[in-house]
Amino acid sequence: MRLEFMDNVKENDVLGKNIYTNEGAILLRVGIKLNSIFIQRLKEIGVSYVYIEDDRFEDVVTHDEKLVELKSLTMKNMSQITKNICNNDKTSIRQSVKVLEELIDYIVETGDVNNCLFDIKTYDNYTYLHCIDTCVMSTFLGLNMNFNSSELRELGTGAILHDIGKTKVPYSIINKEGALTDAEYRIIRKHPIYGKEILEKNYTISDNTIKVVSEHHERFDGKGYPYGLSGNSISKFGRVACVCDVYAAVASNRSYRKRFKPNDAYELILAGSGSMFDSNIVNKFKNTFSVYPLGSHVILSNKVEGYVVRQNSGFPDRPIIRVLNAMSIERSERFYEIDLIYNVNITIEDVV
Ligand SMILES: [Fe+2]
Repeated sequence: MRLEFMDNVKENDVLGKNIYTNEGAILLRVGIKLNSIFIQRLKEIGVSYVYIEDDRFEDVVTHDEKLVELKSLTMKNMSQITKNICNNDKTSIRQSVKVLEELIDYIVETGDVNNCLFDIKTYDNYTYLHCIDTCVMSTFLGLNMNFNSSELRELGTGAILHDIGKTKVPYSIINKEGALTDAEYRIIRKHPIYGKEILEKNYTISDNTIKVVSEHHERFDGKGYPYGLSGNSISKFGRVACVCDVYAAVASNRSYRKRFKPNDAYELILAGSGSMFDSNIVNKFKNTFSVYPLGSHVILSNKVEGYVVRQNSGFPDRPIIRVLNAMSIERSERFYEIDLIYNVNITIEDVV
């Protein structure tokens, strides 16, 4: 499978992955041949890239249907989960937390970071989508930092609920178009405290989960809010969540507005190492997440075009690139590969 921007999709290309609606229903099914009407419609609803079947990429697996199902289920339940927690309805909270834990447990048990982070969605509910992305990333990062299984549940649950305090901020401020006044900004900056107050009322929610919520805007150098904590006075839960919150926000803003530049979001995290973010956590981040998703279509600095087919662990921007040889009919000569680990003079210049 290869990942193509809608502008590069041609009629008769075959869809490699289901495309889902806001409610988690299948909008277009894997295997369907795309015609001009489908392509036009997908562009209209804001899908900027799709996976395309291609037998030259049979070995590139980017599928995890069970995970997609669990994420959709969580997505569908998010408003109810938020309501249950805000209303402090004890039985419902237990059920709600169970839905979240099922997703987290699945990631911990079977998730492959390469297959989990990049699905194509048409969800317009950015808030919930962002919460789920932050949860998935935090869980992977926690896993690589050797959090134990109960800590991973606490971290993942906190990450998904990290902005629950925004329910206490007036709608007019949250959705205000244009610049916020100082007074409005001061109110927004209280959402970690509001979140903590909401969760503290619930005995089923652990202290570590609450820390994720109350500390996700703290910064390692003390320049965050609401408490201005710094260094290790921010819990490891808060330090992980803040990196993932920023990355998930920046990466998805890019991908939904226009052509995504995954390296921009990544570089923001690397640039914040030791100042905004704990450098040890940024190092773990580099070992956990790769810059370019599997199947991405890239241009190299030597002007050769290819697709990311495998990652090199610990070298997030130096994957293995498969270059297609369109002229060849011989199966064995249909492509060749460039491993960027061994070709240090070549870099990825752009995603196309
Ligand atoms: Fe927040």
